[in-house]
Amino acid sequence: MTNMVRSLAFAAVFAMVLAAIPAMANEISVPEKPTFYKDVLPILQENCQDCHRPGGKNMGGMVAPMAFIDYKDTRPWAKGIAKAVSTKSMPPWDASPEHAGVFEHERGLDDAEIETMVRWVSTGASRGNEADGPAPLEFPDTEGWSIGEPDLIVRMPEPFFVPDDLLDATHYFKTTLSEEDHPKDRWIKAVEFRAGSAAVHHIIARPIGGIAPGNAPSVYREGYSAKLPKGSEIVFNMHYHKEPGAGTGVWDQSEVAVVFYPEDYVPEHVLTTDPLGTFAINIPPHAKDYQAQAELTFESDVLISQMMPHMHYRGVAAKYNLTYPDGKEEVLLNVPEYDFNWQTSYRFKEPKFVPKGTKVTLTGTWDNSEDNPFNPDPSKNVTWGEATHEEMMFGWISYTNPEEDHTGHSGYSKRTQGQN
Ligand code: HEC
Repeated sequence: MTNMVRSLAFAAVFAMVLAAIPAMANEISVPEKPTFYKDVLPILQENCQDCHRPGGKNMGGMVAPMAFIDYKDTRPWAKGIAKAVSTKSMPPWDASPEHAGVFEHERGLDDAEIETMVRWVSTGASRGNEADGPAPLEFPDTEGWSIGEPDLIVRMPEPFFVPDDLLDATHYFKTTLSEEDHPKDRWIKAVEFRAGSAAVHHIIARPIGGIAPGNAPSVYREGYSAKLPKGSEIVFNMHYHKEPGAGTGVWDQSEVAVVFYPEDYVPEHVLTTDPLGTFAINIPPHAKDYQAQAELTFESDVLISQMMPHMHYRGVAAKYNLTYPDGKEEVLLNVPEYDFNWQTSYRFKEPKFVPKGTKVTLTGTWDNSEDNPFNPDPSKNVTWGEATHEEMMFGWISYTNPEEDHTGHSGYSKRTQGQN
């Protein structure tokens, strides 16, 4: 072969490769000019309407501000939708792709779905024919609780007035369960929060639930539970956030509902939830990759059920690592783009068995630089504190002991560091 022929042959192969690229793009079957009803609505129904509908799901205080039910609702948001899906900020899900298929209620769009939405917008966001679209989804009556009729509703002890000038603040309210409302220890089956006003940004009611922004109503796996002892003190940690201004003040009295297992029920698995974390946080001004760690070691075999990393505005990543007794390491949960607004509880589809002596190491990363858009003030030195402009790191981890279940015993782990 002469050089000339060789390079021609190469050019021909190269041209074939180039020609194959658009063919590959077509393989994910995205229409040239997607229409709302035929192509986009099915994706919205499956991935967005749970939250984006009138009276959509209240995710620990996060309620989607707009509905994507029909063309009229959705069209004004077209550009925002294209951006949100291509940057993967929507639907919210911050666990690393390495965990695909591992956790319950996973959210996410595949490449073809993203391309369909983006192309719909770039080709003019056309309506198409309503008859080509799927039937509207039916949603449960939003007046009711999605967990069913509650056995116990706990309210903030009194209404709180969120003042006109408030932009962002955290307030605590305590109430003790009365003999009348909660006469005996009971096993929790499900928990659902209801914000008392639009100024509620998140609610945590310890010890009923660690429900933070972005958490769905939580229903325990059948056979799994945590106990709510009688006489418990319930602490509402209320984070309020709104635009300040005359007339923007609102009254709030948020509540949490609980459904219990039947009275004589003995759960097979008693969940222990550990706040794996540290108070030793001291982030210098403008520091970009500040890290802190905490560890715990399981003193028995355990089945790990779920994890929920919790940090504040400057938190950008959280990672749970396992070190097995033989020294082998494994990533339990990696959240490379932690988002304060979407504090997801990552629950395994199948609880994960780890043997006695396994160590869990939680590493949190903070960005106190001006590059972090959520950073309220990069010039501040930031230490541990309850307000969201201070920092926290708790890596909630819930597990059961397969040997010693239904004893209600709590704490099968030993903290070896970071819990000062
Ligand atoms: C789990 C509930 C939930 C799901 C599922 C969800 N959203 Fe959202 N969405 C919200 C909430 C709450 C907000 C407002 C707060 C915020 O921006 O985080 C929002 C905001 C938005 C915004 C405003 C701009 C932005 O990015 O914040 C767009 C656009 C959007 N969603 C599009 C979508 C699309 C498209 C889908 C489906 C592919 C979707 N969302 C799925 C809850 C949800």
